[in-house]
Amino acid sequence: MSDIVKINLSGATGFFSKEQSGLFLEEAEKARNILINSEGRGNDFLGWVRLPSSIGRGDIDSYKKIAREWRQIAEVVVVIGIGGSYLGAKAAKEALTHSFKHLKREEGYPELIFAGQNLSGEYMAELLDILKERRFAVIVISKSGTTTEPAVAFRIIKELMESRYTKEEVARRIVAVTDSSKGALKEVADKEGYRCFVIPDDIGGRFSVLTPVGLFPLACGGFDVDSLVRGAADTEAQLLDNTKNNPAVMYAAIRNLLYSQGKKIELLVNYTPKLTYFSEWWKQLFGESEGKEGKGIFPGSVNFTSDLHSMGQYIQEGERSLFETVLNVEKAAREISVPCDEQNLDGLNFLAGKDVEECNEMARVGTAIAHQDGGVPNLVISIPVLNPYYLGALFYFFEFSCGVSAYILGVNPFDQPGVEDYKRNMFALLGKPGYEELAKKLKEKI
Ligand code: PA5
Repeated sequence: MSDIVKINLSGATGFFSKEQSGLFLEEAEKARNILINSEGRGNDFLGWVRLPSSIGRGDIDSYKKIAREWRQIAEVVVVIGIGGSYLGAKAAKEALTHSFKHLKREEGYPELIFAGQNLSGEYMAELLDILKERRFAVIVISKSGTTTEPAVAFRIIKELMESRYTKEEVARRIVAVTDSSKGALKEVADKEGYRCFVIPDDIGGRFSVLTPVGLFPLACGGFDVDSLVRGAADTEAQLLDNTKNNPAVMYAAIRNLLYSQGKKIELLVNYTPKLTYFSEWWKQLFGESEGKEGKGIFPGSVNFTSDLHSMGQYIQEGERSLFETVLNVEKAAREISVPCDEQNLDGLNFLAGKDVEECNEMARVGTAIAHQDGGVPNLVISIPVLNPYYLGALFYFFEFSCGVSAYILGVNPFDQPGVEDYKRNMFALLGKPGYEELAKKLKEKI
């Protein structure tokens, strides 16, 4: 069987020698073995490695059961969470939804709306404006159960719900996705009688899209979670079996090779707006997994062709510390051609009859050559079409390559000690008990 997710390195090979790539591929192969044999740092967080193939029918059915129930009683499902408890579901929703669905006739599934991923009062107030006019249900997701942003959003939305429904009805409309036993969210859920789905202990936030963190909200939104899981499981089988020319291992090797040559920034490039949030998910995955101990490629993203008119100049001629990884969807789901215009006032008749996607493809090929000529190596990662199966494949592909890549770099991919620093300062400034000393120090700096 050919690779489900393919990699093409031809746009990068001019930037290094065969010997160099051979060395990095050897390193990557070792890192892969460390990962799959659980011999590396953070090896108590490897539950995601064999997760897709172990997701049972029962798990998915339990998500669908509540989804069916909510379809009758909710127009909107508010999904509350941040970071890894948010980005996977958001990425999948954006990738798999009609771009203008909000203008389409109701399809019978509740709309997924996200909250708790920021502390903007305006965002919350505007969300309440909408919820006051809608029948809604809530999924509150937090592995630790103590993260401030989702906790604040949940408190506000819960208050609105409690003002409208009986205690029993509130419990019917709220599901918590959290740890099996600890954390404030688990406590609230137990006390109030909310139904719960468990995030396994050995799976960290940014590797959790294929747990109820991602799958339950997506089931509620009517997305094909069976295919998503199948795509991930087939990719798991390939990447765990394949020792020769493993595309995820090659990707991990070459990005580290480029990094060693001073290419400190990787831009994930897409040519469809549907993948904008996939890039956000990818940035969190790599940024939080690798950016530590003074090391790590900075993961950025651009949406082409839009950003060719904003970032294109820098990429072509700015500081030469970049490389690009293009996410290529080989065939778009829809076709639409450029019409012929007799007057041809805009001079576009040379495009008449061509599919808009053909223009997109030529933009992609032309841009890749221009950027390589300008000193920007180009890796291409391809899927045949953007659908739930291949999206599941991409999620798993990048998780696996991230684990391998971080081990080549020599860091623990599964912790995030740096994230705590802002929290401490924020708590101190907000007057949380126990933070008085720090508050004093910070106020002197302000
Ligand atoms: O990847 C991670 O571990 C983080 O991004 C978390 O997902 C994020 O901080 C949210 O944490 P929690 O689910 O505990 O609220």
